[in-house]
Amino acid sequence: MDESNPAKYGGTPVREEVLGYGSQSITEHEKEAVVEALDGDYITRGPTVEAFEQRVADFVGVKHAIATTSGTTALHLTGRAAGFSTGDEVITTPLTFASTAHAATYCGATPVFADIDPYRRTLDPDTVREQITDETEGLIPMHYAGHPADIQGLMEIADEHDLTVIWDACHGFGGTWDGESLGSNRDMAIFSFHPVKNITTGEGGMVVTDDDELAQRLRRLRSFDMDYEPDGHKSEPWYQVTEGVGYNYNVTDMQAALGLAQLDRIEELKNRRDEIIARYNEAFADIAGLRTPPTPENADPMYHLYAVEVREEFGCDREAFVNAMHEENIGVQVHYVPLHYHPFFQEEFGYEKGMFPETERVYDGLVSLPLHPEMSDDDVQDVIKAVQQLRTYHA
Ligand SMILES: Cc1ncc(COP(=O)(O)O)c(C=O)c1O
Repeated sequence: MDESNPAKYGGTPVREEVLGYGSQSITEHEKEAVVEALDGDYITRGPTVEAFEQRVADFVGVKHAIATTSGTTALHLTGRAAGFSTGDEVITTPLTFASTAHAATYCGATPVFADIDPYRRTLDPDTVREQITDETEGLIPMHYAGHPADIQGLMEIADEHDLTVIWDACHGFGGTWDGESLGSNRDMAIFSFHPVKNITTGEGGMVVTDDDELAQRLRRLRSFDMDYEPDGHKSEPWYQVTEGVGYNYNVTDMQAALGLAQLDRIEELKNRRDEIIARYNEAFADIAGLRTPPTPENADPMYHLYAVEVREEFGCDREAFVNAMHEENIGVQVHYVPLHYHPFFQEEFGYEKGMFPETERVYDGLVSLPLHPEMSDDDVQDVIKAVQQLRTYHA
């Protein structure tokens, strides 16, 4: 048995403990902040949530931030606030998480997929143009892995056709494009604070916008679509009425306390991600058949994922690559099975495999390698070693 072989082919795993592809990073100070919030007057949405919203708004450089329970519920609120409804078409990428498209489907609108630019792995403005009809009302680009979509190209289309744009920036919190934060473009952007994302609140999300009316609508929908001070009832302080179908997407002060403390560390968290990415880029530059992530142009992304593409020259396919890494005790993941492969989108909207060739070609090789601030230098080296061993074996 050759010990230098990958574990899948008879060697010893590069590590004994499983390394996750993503993980939260929580300090003692952050834990204390959560406990302190529990002693406050509010343990539901209270002043700490308001402070967190203000900090995020200032950080992103927008007027309003509305905290919600997840990226998914943030997307739901944006679809409702945009007024999407039955008969409307909303263009988005098939290379994303299902919730992106659900900003349309939750509201009865139709998600219309357009193919990606395979370099950025984000919506290609040329394919978006091909999908525009009289029914098109919105556009939901996603900043895949944290790399900015073609913001300029997509904004031009939105301007020409008067579309509402919702940026799914779940992967990109903390990054900038053209000197401005991802999420600061019109009309709305959303973030997720799930544990593997760039900062976390356990579960959580945020909508950001510069538009006063949208902000008001978003806040109302988040909390039952309730008018707490309806006209003509000044002397009846209990008189609070629902004006539509709203939700309870309120987050708690404990979550916000964690979010605020995480924001204090955003630079440190970004720097560690950048260091790991630099080491990967250097180590993988000469590996045949391994496409590394796109190089940022006019941008300083805070990458959520380090997604490579395993191509034929590597010597094995993506499935073999993923299973080989798992046998090395290295967690890898695939982001994402394209949405037009999912039974829901096929059965509901008639999508099928073969419709989006660039997405499919990219997907066939995609693998996200571990990337999170808690990774030690040895962890990073284990990932590099496992990839190098696998390539050597297949060369
Ligand atoms: C691109 C994208 N959009 C939306 C979501 C949904 O976010 P959440 O898990 O916070 O609901 C995710 C999270 O996985 C995501 O990656």
